Amino acid sequence: MRNIVISGGTDGIGRALALHHLRAGDRVVVIGRSAEKGAQPGREAAASDRFHFLGADLSLVSENRRIIGEVADRLGHVDALVLCAAYLRMKRFVTSEGFESSFALAYLSRFLLSTGIAPLMRDAEAPVIVNLAVVGAGASAMNWDDLQFTAKHVGTKVWAQTRRANELLAVGFAREHGLGRIKYVMVNPVYVRSSFAGEFAKPVRIVISALGALSAKPAAKAVLPIVDLIEHPPAQELSFYKAATRQDRTPTAADVEDAERLYRETKRILND
Ligand SMILES: NC(=O)c1ccc[n+]([C@@H]2O[C@H](COP(=O)([O-])OP(=O)(O)OC[C@H]3O[C@@H](n4cnc5c(N)ncnc54)[C@H](OP(=O)(O)O)[C@@H]3O)[C@@H](O)[C@H]2O)c1
Repeated sequence: MRNIVISGGTDGIGRALALHHLRAGDRVVVIGRSAEKGAQPGREAAASDRFHFLGADLSLVSENRRIIGEVADRLGHVDALVLCAAYLRMKRFVTSEGFESSFALAYLSRFLLSTGIAPLMRDAEAPVIVNLAVVGAGASAMNWDDLQFTAKHVGTKVWAQTRRANELLAVGFAREHGLGRIKYVMVNPVYVRSSFAGEFAKPVRIVISALGALSAKPAAKAVLPIVDLIEHPPAQELSFYKAATRQDRTPTAADVEDAERLYRETKRILND
């Protein structure tokens, strides 16, 4: 029995993964905000004894830190961490801790969970972290002088930066925190029918829902390549996938430099 932790496991891809692993006999921790949705996977898979829902707003640094402690208490060790929590906002929103919310949820939370749960993976046979994000935004996506877009907030630029920041997180993690064993896998799931959580203008929401109904893959099918990566992690410390297809991507010296810069900036922002 493996211990799987899924942030954003109450809906969409994360929820489908939780159901799959519960049905396969694993122990699953799901993190999300909604207690109502959070109770469902354990019931649906008739596996409440192997299922834990941890309610948290992961856009808060303090909540990520609390959750890492709770995961340690409940599971002891972790085999796989899957990062799915997402909430797309086009307008600037600042959390009660003073962070720009997209930066906080789509990047800081993933940084905290990756680095905080890594020590719990020490005894796992084939430890793996799967981060679901669309990499390839390019180096210019980083707004280095103002990472939280205080001066000028442009939703599309904020989102592009979170994509690049996750790519740099992966590059930095493989160098700093991999402990030599943990495999870090970035996965672009491509187009999957999900709740597409976020605040969009009404017409945008209508288009997304219509396109989703017409052309997106059902989540239960889309998770199968991710399940495969969890069961058989790649040999390399860092790899990139688009659905089931491995991408030929090797970090350049400039990527490594940017990853180190972001790591230092993040530690400074977190007062670590
Ligand atoms: N679907 C696609 O086509 C697609 C394409 C490319 C990349 N991706 C990436 O794949 C991942 C999963 O996407 P999805 O479409 O399956 O997601 P989704 O259906 O929109 O679900 C988002 C999840 O995040 C949780 N969440 C949102 N805000 C949160 C917060 N503040 N604290 C804790 N949890 C929070 C939600 O739970 P609660 O409602 O309980 O808070 C929910 O479980 C995301 O990283 C997304 O960027 C998806």
